[in-house]
Amino acid sequence: MLYSEKLKNSINKLKTEGSYRFFNEIQRCAGKHPKALWKRDHNNTDMTDIIVWCSNDYLGMSQNELVISKMINSIKTMGVGSGGTRNISGNSVEIVNLENEIAALHNKEKAMVFTSGYIANEATISTLLNILDNSVVFSDEKNHASIISGIKKSSARKEIFKHNDLDHLEELIKKYPDDTNKLIVFESVYSMDGDFGNIEGIIKIAKKHNALTFLDEVHAVGMYGDTGAGVADKLGLANDIDIIQGTLGKAYGTIGGYISSTNLICDVIRSYASGFIFTTAIPPALASAANASIQYLKKSKVERTLQQENTILLKKYLSKAKIPFLDNESHIVPVMVYNPKKCKEISNILLNDFGHYIQPINYPTVPMGLERLRITPGPLHNEEMIANLTNALKHAFMKTNEIDYIKSA
Ligand SMILES: Cc1ncc(COP(=O)(O)O)c(C=O)c1O
Repeated sequence: MLYSEKLKNSINKLKTEGSYRFFNEIQRCAGKHPKALWKRDHNNTDMTDIIVWCSNDYLGMSQNELVISKMINSIKTMGVGSGGTRNISGNSVEIVNLENEIAALHNKEKAMVFTSGYIANEATISTLLNILDNSVVFSDEKNHASIISGIKKSSARKEIFKHNDLDHLEELIKKYPDDTNKLIVFESVYSMDGDFGNIEGIIKIAKKHNALTFLDEVHAVGMYGDTGAGVADKLGLANDIDIIQGTLGKAYGTIGGYISSTNLICDVIRSYASGFIFTTAIPPALASAANASIQYLKKSKVERTLQQENTILLKKYLSKAKIPFLDNESHIVPVMVYNPKKCKEISNILLNDFGHYIQPINYPTVPMGLERLRITPGPLHNEEMIANLTNALKHAFMKTNEIDYIKSA
């Protein structure tokens, strides 16, 4: 009785704050991305046509014909599952080939694939910090939940530096003698604000103070650099980063995560990380599809170029309509609402009245008061869609926030 009371209270708290999460039922349609179908009413089979604006399938690679046929053919020849952990019968030729492809992409000695980017972060960071005993981790305050979880699971001392603040990072790092084991963890593209980490500045500090560097490139792989190897590669700095972490679940359109680093670091993680050892390996068909996607994006720049053009176009339309957004340099366009209830309301209007789907982003994904609609325009959106979305946003802002919006407009 007492238990259920407490559990109910925890849910009611979220509902009162306006941050209770509702999952829309979407049916993706191969070959039609970013168009999809939405089940408006769970108890009714009717489906409504919508346009998705918040997908992390940034380049539509989950519906790329080559990747699909690779996956289908691999399933037909190898089946759907992997059959075990990497250690016990789940290590496939395809997963090893995928790791070799990832290592080559980042110009590292080795790569290791995990079941998700989340697990790659959590398992690698916690294991590394525990092996390097008496270690200190320096973590950007805006790092992802998976990084924070990895740090919490370790016995390392932690220092949180202000977002992208090199002076603060150096001030914290200087407190420790040179022979202390140090790890600096940061991201190349911060997922909710869409700004870039200061890779060059952090590398300089790391070198000066003998620290290892761990860079999360989850939102950058496939998206930046000549071959899609991410921001560090684009800046010619990948060789100065000790561990590059990425995902196969966003621009590469499949699922899974990875790290790429030295043979030694990868061997340590392979040998000690529970999140790598005690879980079923990704299926060979998935590994071969992810590999096909990486190889495709290494060569094809069309998707990246169109994506970047559409981001510029969307920002132009939003600026003209005086819709408030964070003007960063990346592919992520956060439209700011600053209120959880209004954020949800605007999202509902867009979906119910106009068929534009943008999930509201509320606490704890972003701090309270910084609620937003995170738009990720892709290569397959077009100007007509962008114009329609802007009009719908204008309407929704007027309806929910009339006075403030008119004031700023
Ligand atoms: C910065 C960052 N790192 C890691 C992850 C986890 O990656 P995955 O979705 O592959 O688990 C995410 C997920 O969105 C992320 O935003």
